Amino acid sequence: PAATPQWRPAFHYTPQAMWMNDPNGLVFHQGVYHLFYQYHPHSAVWGPMHWGHATSTDLLRWQEQPVALAPDVLGMVFSGSAVVDVDNRSGLGPAGSQPLVAAFTHHAMDADRAGGITHERQSLASSLDGGLTWTPYAGNPVLPNPGRKDFRDPKLRWLPERQRWLMALACGDRICFYSAADLKHWELESEFGAGLGAHGGVWECPDLFPLTGPDGRQRWVLLVSLTPGGPNGGSATQYFIGEFDGHRFTPDDTQVRWLDFGPDNYAGVTWSGVDDRALFIGWMSNWQYATQVPTAPWRSAMTIPRELVLRTGLGGQLLLASQPARDMAALKQPATLSARQTTLAQPLDLSAALAGAHGRFMLRLATPALASFTMSLENAVGERLRLGHDADSGRWWIDRRASGETAFHPAFAAQHSAPRLADGPPSTLELWFDSGSVEFFADGGLSTMTSLFFSNRPWSSGTLTAATAMPLDSIDVHPLGDAR
Ligand code: FRU
Repeated sequence: PAATPQWRPAFHYTPQAMWMNDPNGLVFHQGVYHLFYQYHPHSAVWGPMHWGHATSTDLLRWQEQPVALAPDVLGMVFSGSAVVDVDNRSGLGPAGSQPLVAAFTHHAMDADRAGGITHERQSLASSLDGGLTWTPYAGNPVLPNPGRKDFRDPKLRWLPERQRWLMALACGDRICFYSAADLKHWELESEFGAGLGAHGGVWECPDLFPLTGPDGRQRWVLLVSLTPGGPNGGSATQYFIGEFDGHRFTPDDTQVRWLDFGPDNYAGVTWSGVDDRALFIGWMSNWQYATQVPTAPWRSAMTIPRELVLRTGLGGQLLLASQPARDMAALKQPATLSARQTTLAQPLDLSAALAGAHGRFMLRLATPALASFTMSLENAVGERLRLGHDADSGRWWIDRRASGETAFHPAFAAQHSAPRLADGPPSTLELWFDSGSVEFFADGGLSTMTSLFFSNRPWSSGTLTAATAMPLDSIDVHPLGDAR
């Protein structure tokens, strides 16, 4: 297929070419953010999985690196995580060294063909050169399959109180927690989730991490991706908030909650080695149509890096909110529209503010009284992306039905929505537009939607229209720079 530079994002990571899915091995080490990912270096569709690799020192500019891990006799290299083994407890480095250790799933290809179910095992690899080259451990696999068809995506975390490593593992309809002192000898601690939460699809890519709530109390957050079964179809990530005693996770309640209500944020997890914030990145696609999106020569991008925080939402509930990582602000160029203490009574013409932004801009508005409103963006060939808030249903929405190329899959041309999860004023909406995607953060990130689109020209004109006069505390539009 012909190359599609018009859809190459300016500030979302994409490999130069070929297929990418889940983020893997997120680790911050010696000033470098590592982003490994599910990668097929020989094709633009999913196939024998490798770990691709990119690095960044600022979360904005990413440098693609050589492939880090490739299939071997034990199988394909599926998703997993990486940590700095500070005390070399694994013994995978020479005495006194601090190896980087990755845990991943080996998915055997032959066993698949034979119809076996024990084809997923957990393995290790280590790096002694700061993550550039990796050596699979000779004793792989370190965690054999106990008889579960789905047994994958290990996420490691150091438990200082127990002086042990924890592994959260997706086990079909539940998360299994294992622990080990040396990253090699794993013992089952507990299982969580059978019959709890959303189960429209198999559970994948867990992540368990502590966060401090608005009341100063430490809680634990468990992310669980599942596909299908998302709130707007296909793949999505749910979360639980609760207690973790070093052995067992106990949720505060049984409510189903979504990290992102949009269709295009999957398999996201947080960085290891970043302790002052829960720094997250997701795969910006959906298994429904990921292999068919019309980009070439690459397929798929990551979301922007985000910070996950606990906030009080609707009815006093404790919820997980997503915000653009603060580092992203460096992309903002001088505002092309900026107003304070006004009222949206007539349609507001955004066209002058968008001109020259090449489809890359950030819009933020704050209102003390939310009405139904619609933002409509158009381009020179009449394609349209609309989004807004519907006061009757109390929902935020995005409509990409007329946004450009949509015919590659029947599920793509759709309108998506998310409930409003905040009670009180003010309400905020922050949008990050790149060539081919919008990330929608409403009410400080309590309601988040991530959505791809394939418009044939940049958005060059637009209007913001409220159903009834809506007071605006502020509205700002900033073109965004190119981080490539
Ligand atoms: C999630 C997932 C993981 C698996 C990987 C394979 O998207 O299915 O569970 O490890 O992708 O590429």
